[in-house]
Amino acid sequence: MVCVTSLAAYANGVQVSSEWFNESTAIFKTSWQVDRKPEVSRLLAMEAGSGTRRFGILKRAISCYRQSPKLPDSARSWPIVAVDSEGSASRFTRRIRLEAGKDWGMAPIGFGIVGCGMIANFHAEAIRQIQGARIVGCFDKHADRTARFAAANPGVTAFPNLDQMLADSRVHVVTICTPSGAHRESAVTAAEAKKHVVVEKPMEITLKRCDDMLRACRVNNVLLCPIFPSRFSPANVAIKNAIDQGRFGRLTLGDTYVKWWRTQQYYDQGGWRGTWALDGGGAYMNQAIHNIDLLQWFMGDVTEVCAITATLAHERIEVEDVGVAAIKFKNGAIGTIEATTAAWPGHLKRTEIHGTTGSAIVEQDDLLLWQFEKAKSKDKLIREKFAKTIGGSGGASDPQAISCSGHRKQLKDFVTAIQTGSTPQISGDEGRKAVEIILAIYQAARSGRKVQIPLAGQSKRTTKWNLLSESNKKLSGGSLKFCSKGTSPLEIVLIRLLQ
Ligand SMILES: NC(=O)c1ccc[n+]([C@@H]2O[C@H](COP(=O)([O-])OP(=O)(O)OC[C@H]3O[C@@H](n4cnc5c(N)ncnc54)[C@H](O)[C@@H]3O)[C@@H](O)[C@H]2O)c1
Repeated sequence: MVCVTSLAAYANGVQVSSEWFNESTAIFKTSWQVDRKPEVSRLLAMEAGSGTRRFGILKRAISCYRQSPKLPDSARSWPIVAVDSEGSASRFTRRIRLEAGKDWGMAPIGFGIVGCGMIANFHAEAIRQIQGARIVGCFDKHADRTARFAAANPGVTAFPNLDQMLADSRVHVVTICTPSGAHRESAVTAAEAKKHVVVEKPMEITLKRCDDMLRACRVNNVLLCPIFPSRFSPANVAIKNAIDQGRFGRLTLGDTYVKWWRTQQYYDQGGWRGTWALDGGGAYMNQAIHNIDLLQWFMGDVTEVCAITATLAHERIEVEDVGVAAIKFKNGAIGTIEATTAAWPGHLKRTEIHGTTGSAIVEQDDLLLWQFEKAKSKDKLIREKFAKTIGGSGGASDPQAISCSGHRKQLKDFVTAIQTGSTPQISGDEGRKAVEIILAIYQAARSGRKVQIPLAGQSKRTTKWNLLSESNKKLSGGSLKFCSKGTSPLEIVLIRLLQ
């Protein structure tokens, strides 16, 4: 049986006391005190005895905790760690975590939305469609927009400021839908209030501001979810899997084209659009970023960039509305990234991946080409299934003509990660990569020179913490999200053992 005191020590401030009332069936009761370090947000479950019934017993016991009136509301959605009788990470943990969201009486994950403009409506719709998630509150710096959004979403509380929204224990996640250059402040404040953070693209508009967000989330042990819904489209998932399986052979060429149209009115209406201070850039930073993320996800890290940008079709904007970039990937492959909001009437975005034994082309979410030297029987089915999936314009000429299905899939994955204590498919670090490529494109266009990535002066500092995180990533796929910079090496080892 696991020693209660060692668990209490491991929980780092969460006092756990157990009272075993039926040792033969190993059902146990636990009372929770979370006053000292509420950020240690996990539900510990201990397991005693042996035999095939253990899983069911443990499941019932945790269900009993979840519903216990003693458990604070905020703790009902905590991830679970199951510890077996030897004190090591139980093989049941994974299974229990997977079960956790289903029928264990877990309170829904509550979202608070900051910035009640255009994209907030898509988040609201996506969250509504996710079982186990709900929107609890909203806040916009313009009170009338907060009120309008709350009225359009029954049951959602309109908060007069961010702090009050963060103080509401029903809010577990804060979704940031403010202008791009205003993401950092709300994200850091939310992380410091121990709320998980979802942030619209781009994560932020400078690497320093991205790093501030990453650090705040890491230090406060909360998850960060940079929005990249295209990674969840079935055609893109099929391409990524084929790359991982080596079906393209050596990757040689990766191109992406976002040839969209935006009216002058689009820029004139939102005061922040087209400004360096809040949009952080033009066709690359605002529109093409989804495809830039996809390209680097498919092809790997980008190491070199040359670019030309121009402003040709719009007035009163500071940023580019057309650009071409030539890039080199770490694996030696090369490619192009074209982005514009000046190609009337607006065309479907397109990504083309080529290698020595395969080629694929995806337009919007439709697979146009899927061809490999060594064909597989499933290829025909993939072609048929993903050839025409959406039939929409995907925002090529109208920013509101997008679907929320990608948002729904990504947010569902994020909710599952919170509920089960697992890692979301897209981590915070991934959000930084596309921003760095875009900033390199801007530097290259301004200087007329080739620019290397990582950008000079921007490489991550090599601290003891970074080294530990890197080694953790290698060893365990990045399971140290519950650690902070203050976590001692001994605690890290304990947490590793328990995960
Ligand atoms: N994923 C996508 O497909 C997609 C599509 C459009 C926009 N976006 C991104 O979403 C973000 C918002 O874009 P939008 O088109 O919804 O903009 P918007 O102008 O329609 O809405 C932004 C809202 O934020 C509010 N706001 C500004 N600063 C604030 C602050 N500090 N605190 C609280 N509220 C504040 C504004 O009053 C406004 O209501 C941008 O980062 C944009 O790049 C993503």
